[in-house]
Amino acid sequence: MSRWWIAFAAVVAAVSARQTPYSTLNAPSLSVSEADGFSVLQHPSLPAHSLRLHKVPDGLCERTEGVTSWSGYLDVDLDRVYEQERRKGQGDAAEAEKFAGVIEHFYFWGFASRNDKAHDPVTLWMNGGPGCSSFTGLLMEIGPCSSVRPVLGRPGTELNPHAWNNNASVIFLDQPTGVGYSYASWRNGTNTSAPPTRIFDSEHAARDISAFLHLLALHADNAIVPLSMEDGRLKLPEFHLAGESYGGRYTPLLASRILQDNEHIAAHPEEGLHPLSIASVMIGNGITSPKHQSPAHVEYACTNATGHGPFLNETTCQGMRKALPACLAKIDKCNERAGGEYNATLCADADKFCSDHLESKWELTGASPYDWNHADGYVEEEYIAAFLNDHDVRTKLGIDPTGFGDAHDGVFVGCSDKVFAEFGLVGDGSRDSTWAVRDILGKGVRVLSYSGEHDFICNYIGNHDWIYDLDWQDGDNFRAAPLEHWYMHGSAFPAGKFRHYGNLTYATVLGAGHFVPHDQPAAALEIMRRWQQGSGRL
Ligand SMILES: *[C@@H]1O[C@H](CO)[C@@H](O)[C@H](O)[C@H]1NC(C)=O
Ligand SMILES: *[C@@H]1O[C@H](CO)[C@@H](O)[C@H](O)[C@H]1NC(C)=O
Ligand SMILES: *[C@@H]1O[C@H](CO)[C@@H](O)[C@H](O)[C@H]1NC(C)=O
Ligand SMILES: *[C@@H]1O[C@H](CO)[C@@H](O)[C@H](O)[C@H]1NC(C)=O
Ligand SMILES: *[C@@H]1O[C@H](CO)[C@@H](O)[C@H](O)[C@H]1NC(C)=O
Ligand SMILES: *[C@@H]1O[C@H](CO)[C@@H](O)[C@H](O)[C@H]1NC(C)=O
Ligand SMILES: *[C@@H]1O[C@H](CO)[C@@H](O)[C@H](O)[C@H]1NC(C)=O
Repeated sequence: MSRWWIAFAAVVAAVSARQTPYSTLNAPSLSVSEADGFSVLQHPSLPAHSLRLHKVPDGLCERTEGVTSWSGYLDVDLDRVYEQERRKGQGDAAEAEKFAGVIEHFYFWGFASRNDKAHDPVTLWMNGGPGCSSFTGLLMEIGPCSSVRPVLGRPGTELNPHAWNNNASVIFLDQPTGVGYSYASWRNGTNTSAPPTRIFDSEHAARDISAFLHLLALHADNAIVPLSMEDGRLKLPEFHLAGESYGGRYTPLLASRILQDNEHIAAHPEEGLHPLSIASVMIGNGITSPKHQSPAHVEYACTNATGHGPFLNETTCQGMRKALPACLAKIDKCNERAGGEYNATLCADADKFCSDHLESKWELTGASPYDWNHADGYVEEEYIAAFLNDHDVRTKLGIDPTGFGDAHDGVFVGCSDKVFAEFGLVGDGSRDSTWAVRDILGKGVRVLSYSGEHDFICNYIGNHDWIYDLDWQDGDNFRAAPLEHWYMHGSAFPAGKFRHYGNLTYATVLGAGHFVPHDQPAAALEIMRRWQQGSGRL
């Protein structure tokens, strides 16, 4: 394999030196070595990052003939290469020392498209939480298989006919460390305490994820990110960044940052990297604008806007209405960024206040915050944990034996309480992300928001309102566009509504809660197809 790669790389280098604007003859290129059953991908221009790739045996999860899957780790030795230098440059050496020696390991599992793997786009999927594993999305929403009830203690899965890799390569990745199988370790064993986890930070996450996509994209052998030549140029596929729930914060920030990095890459052909084509951001029931979701919590729970409410009684609702202005004022304070930086104390205060006085009131209904028509708790989560904690499954997936999980003991948890708490401490959940949506729309990236109508927590009312209010270049045209019904092929009954103009689409899905692809699998796949391959009208 490596010999073939070297031959391929030589051809690429020779051809691209003459014809692509992004390569020069002496630009460094990808190297591949073999270690412990993994192919290790490295690139001199990404000195902190390396990718361990492992071909998953056929039949685990994906049973479709000829459709391969790959898993592995993005290993990030951040401290050594960047972090110490950066912090020392700011005269902050003491802070750098505290971080010294932590290596981060981000686990991913990717599947080639079942359709046209050489030409279908690539979708990167991220669940939310914060702290919830994208492997819950894989195994109960959009992956090639779904977890089922264990039989005689043996966990199992069944084929998902509505998997998103029907029409795209799909990659599931967990970040930050502490989520799912992703973890941090010390470079050497001298420190026996648990390494610090880093909470999401768009700058770091985007650098890691863009390095991840670059390494995958330059690797000729993996078939998840197809590498092709077109007119003598190396052609990278289009990427869609899809996120659910808290992913409605991750994805726009990531896209915005990757576009910034692209400018650097384009200006530095000597680095041997290629700008990544981010075609779109897809947000399912997202938390993108806390300022809009908070009033929507009151409207959703306390009026009959859904046609099934109100869900809470007048006494409770009066308390919520009374708390709303204070919640909004705190969110504003958090986002003022007086002094240029977020003030973690102020943001955490907003988080806690709005959660205590608005969101948590939903508990009184006894229903799931993710679906008014569903009992609290999803049994699928147990099936998923059983599958991902199974010894045989882990061996096939090439999972490092320990270090992950809330107790760093190698027990997979679907949602990390630890990571959730860390985000809460800095009030990340009160921070606005709409600026990033405006930024990427302005740079030609398409944006879709779709919302299952049964969801309270990141509900469609708030999703509608932030998108409607968004101040972007086609905002007036978007607001003038009608809210129309959309239909599945051949059906006379609406599947939901949508509003579309230019590169922005807002959509709803009837009969679905927070986990749209779990509740309405066919509709979710149809939205994904029409969005990725069509105009943006549904
Ligand atoms: C999706 O894949 C199916 C085959 O699995 C193919 O028939 C169909 O044309 C594809 N749709 C799009 C929109 O690419
Ligand atoms: C481990 O790191 C510490 C702190 O940087 C250093 O003092 C120590 O020598 C290292 N030990 C080994 C075995 O590399
Ligand atoms: C060991 O790890 C802990 C927890 O992250 C940290 O507080 C401490 O400073 C580390 N000690 C050394 C010697 O690096
Ligand atoms: C809520 O709206 C639905 C649909 O319009 C209606 O059938 C129902 O009676 C309303 N409920 C209340 C309490 O007004
Ligand atoms: C409203 O709901 C709260 C919480 O369930 C309950 O304690 C209270 O008695 C209810 N008030 C009325 C007027 O029903
Ligand atoms: C954050 O806000 C709190 C409360 O207003 C204030 O006491 C603190 O000094 C601020 N912190 C920073 C770093 O500005
Ligand atoms: C809309 O998206 C397309 C495809 O990404 C892009 O080529 C076009 O420039 C965008 N339009 C605007 C007005 O940004």
